[in-house]
Amino acid sequence: MKLAIVILAAGQGTRMRSRLPKVLHPLAGRPLLGHVIDTARALGPARLLTVYGHGGGQVPAAFPGAPVTWVEQAEQRGTAHAVIQTLAHLGDADRVLVLYGDVPLIRAATLERLLAASADTGLGLLTARLADPSGYGRILRDGKGRILRIVEHKDASPEERAVDEINTGILVADRVALERWLEGIDDDNAQGEFYLTDVVGLAVAEGVRVASAAPDGAEEIQGVNDRIQLAALERQAQARTARALMAAGVTLADPARLDVRGTLEAGMDSVLDVDLVCEGRVVLGEGVRVGPGCVLRDCTLGDGVEVLAHTLIEEAEVGPGARVGPFARLRPGTRLAAHTHVGNFVEIKNSRVGEGSKLNHLTYVGDSDVGRRVNIGAGTITCNYDGAYKHRTVIGDDVFVGSDTQLVAPVRVGEGATIGAGSTITRDVPAGRLTLARARNQVTVEGWQRPRKPAPKEV
Ligand code: UD1
Ligand code: CA
Repeated sequence: MKLAIVILAAGQGTRMRSRLPKVLHPLAGRPLLGHVIDTARALGPARLLTVYGHGGGQVPAAFPGAPVTWVEQAEQRGTAHAVIQTLAHLGDADRVLVLYGDVPLIRAATLERLLAASADTGLGLLTARLADPSGYGRILRDGKGRILRIVEHKDASPEERAVDEINTGILVADRVALERWLEGIDDDNAQGEFYLTDVVGLAVAEGVRVASAAPDGAEEIQGVNDRIQLAALERQAQARTARALMAAGVTLADPARLDVRGTLEAGMDSVLDVDLVCEGRVVLGEGVRVGPGCVLRDCTLGDGVEVLAHTLIEEAEVGPGARVGPFARLRPGTRLAAHTHVGNFVEIKNSRVGEGSKLNHLTYVGDSDVGRRVNIGAGTITCNYDGAYKHRTVIGDDVFVGSDTQLVAPVRVGEGATIGAGSTITRDVPAGRLTLARARNQVTVEGWQRPRKPAPKEV
């Protein structure tokens, strides 16, 4: 059977009080609608359609290249009206599954269950029992438990409102039957809208059995209508990520204090301390340790890397066994080889650092190639920018750079060279020798006296 999936995402989302269309608000670093598109794709549909409207072209423009057919619903006249807009684009699909762009945490496994439960009938609903069902459409069943119809909260009587089984809105229908039922729907109700839920009564009238399935977790069916619900779902999304990491063998000091805004892959026996923020695509090897308060963005850390507290790593690669931080900043284009050490208040940008090299304190290295087993002393600065152009600094293997050295690029330091502390290096440094470049030689001033305060008078 060929499946079409229709995602409804045309609503305005007034309660968000935002210039951004609701379905573009980020959850775990991705737009709400992006989560639903990914889940839909996991089901391998023959067709994937998204109905957009409010916010206009902004919504499709946020997903360039996504394998989605975008269908505009210029005026939002209800969920049935939204689905009607897609009918011309269903191709040769036999079944239609309807999802919602503002219900981001629905799981593919739950949808598979709904599809299986509905395989031999024309209509299936995802329903749930809620302690507080208010606001939702209620599922009305007969004495034998057969679904009869859905009544919207606004149209429900007090007895109907007492029903705790609700319509999540997610449904799957036979394509031909759905087209027929949609023709029979009117807008004669409290909201003056064409309700998709009315297909249930029409199916029952034709003698079609309405199947149902339930989600595993309550978060799967929760929608986002305001920023309070968005924040609550953010925690749910983060909790889900934390559980998956722990199940994969990662220790989290506090599962509630990890935020993954994108994807985090972490190898076994990695240990993540509190208040880690990961953005973009972060890949950690096995046995990686990350200290408290770090930010990792689009980076790859090899096996056994240790990141100490309050370190930022962005668009960088760190080789196995390296140690970075505390308070270090690796900027885009940094590549640290295995067993390198980068210490506190060190900033590295667009540079390669060879195996076993150490930059332990208060240093800026930019646009540089640093060899193996190099020791960069405290306070070393590569002066890579002349005000107009960036230049490279090349440091050979086994170089020792004394503390408080400035390397004015472009400049090359030969293998095994030693640079004396406090040097300002403006020309290439020969290999294997000691080079010093200080403003003047050290002098000792004869007869100089340190200023003194007069001794306090005794009383
Ligand atoms: C809908 C269901 C209700 C269910 C609830 C679950 C209907 C009539 N009611 O109610 O039974 O309990 O979801 O959350 O379906 N949309 C469009 N175009 C439109 C109207 C809506 O794309 O013309 C989209 C909205 O952007 C939203 C979704 O459909 O994502 C649901 O619409 P909404 O009007 O919020 O329906 P509910 O009142 O929540
Ligand atoms: Ca809603």
